[in-house]
Amino acid sequence: MTLSANSHSGPPVPTLEWIGDAGGFLRLIDQTLLPVECRHIECRTAECVWEAIRTLRVRGAPAIGVAAAYGVVLGLQDALDLPRPEFDARLNSVTDYLATSRPTAVNLFWALDRLRRVAVEETDLDSRQRHARLLAEAREIEREDREMCAAIGRHGAALLADGMGVLTHCNAGALATAGDGTALAVIFAAAAAGKRLHVYADETRPLLQGARLTCWELQQRQVPVTLICDSMAGQVMRERRVQAVVTGADRIAANGDAANKIGTYSVAVLARAHAIPFYVAAPSSTFDLSLATGAEIPIEERQPAEITHGFGRQTAPDGIGVYNPAFDVTPAEYISALITERGVIRPVNTASIAGALATE
Ligand code: MRU
Repeated sequence: MTLSANSHSGPPVPTLEWIGDAGGFLRLIDQTLLPVECRHIECRTAECVWEAIRTLRVRGAPAIGVAAAYGVVLGLQDALDLPRPEFDARLNSVTDYLATSRPTAVNLFWALDRLRRVAVEETDLDSRQRHARLLAEAREIEREDREMCAAIGRHGAALLADGMGVLTHCNAGALATAGDGTALAVIFAAAAAGKRLHVYADETRPLLQGARLTCWELQQRQVPVTLICDSMAGQVMRERRVQAVVTGADRIAANGDAANKIGTYSVAVLARAHAIPFYVAAPSSTFDLSLATGAEIPIEERQPAEITHGFGRQTAPDGIGVYNPAFDVTPAEYISALITERGVIRPVNTASIAGALATE
């Protein structure tokens, strides 16, 4: 099914959506087809969700977490009559399996842990009732993510002034979350407040999330956007076309070091060289306080073919050696502020992050 683009809001259908009750399924936009086609797929098994995450049909840290939560529900749909020990064993094997889909975005592990904990707490329920409870929790994760995006937008919009050029990298928009996004939520909220912004979107080699997804989303929301190759960011800054950088994150360590799409670190260094503020927008589910610094964040390495045969065309000689890390880590010292649903964290360090994320 091909869906027409909607000119005044986010994607024409939700990025991801649970259809039906406990026997239902997960509907996802297949982001590998954008911007040419906006088509959805229906996942009815945990294997389908695993494949969708691994191949980036659904991608972006918060959206991966929400999809995985629903994947657990799918993986237990045929376990409703099992006694508790067998249900628990299935729950563990499904969550362990989904945890192997991608390594860097901590939202994946955060969501899976949360479902595991809920199931353990429900001691008085039978398997069918516990499954229903898991679906309710997955829905709650999705709802909270939507709210966190809105709050990130509200807090971050104050950092952008009328007339600014804003550079972003990869896609941290509605396609990457259950809501309006993280970095793009900041831009959408500022634009909604009447600030005239012009976005420069890095194309984001090798999978072009900036060109394919961010440009598509911004066009739909009628936010002025100009596409540039990643290698042009320095020149765009030197020409004073941008006054701020806003990106998302896949995992933020306790000291504020932030993993995000490969190329983000280079943009941060360039921003520092040009005295341009570099902001990272992310919900609390993207923080991993168990890691002291970003050096401990696992970095996904993807297939060489993404570089040598991008989008079906050979662009490098046969047999060439390739290194393809999908993420890099921007040291906290390059980050002017973290924009979270709890507010803006500045300066970025272990103490300020611990204070901001401490539960009331
Ligand atoms: O490989 P991807 O497309 O999943 O990478 C996504 C990013 O790096 C995003 O910037 C990040 O997940 C933040 S999304 C709100």
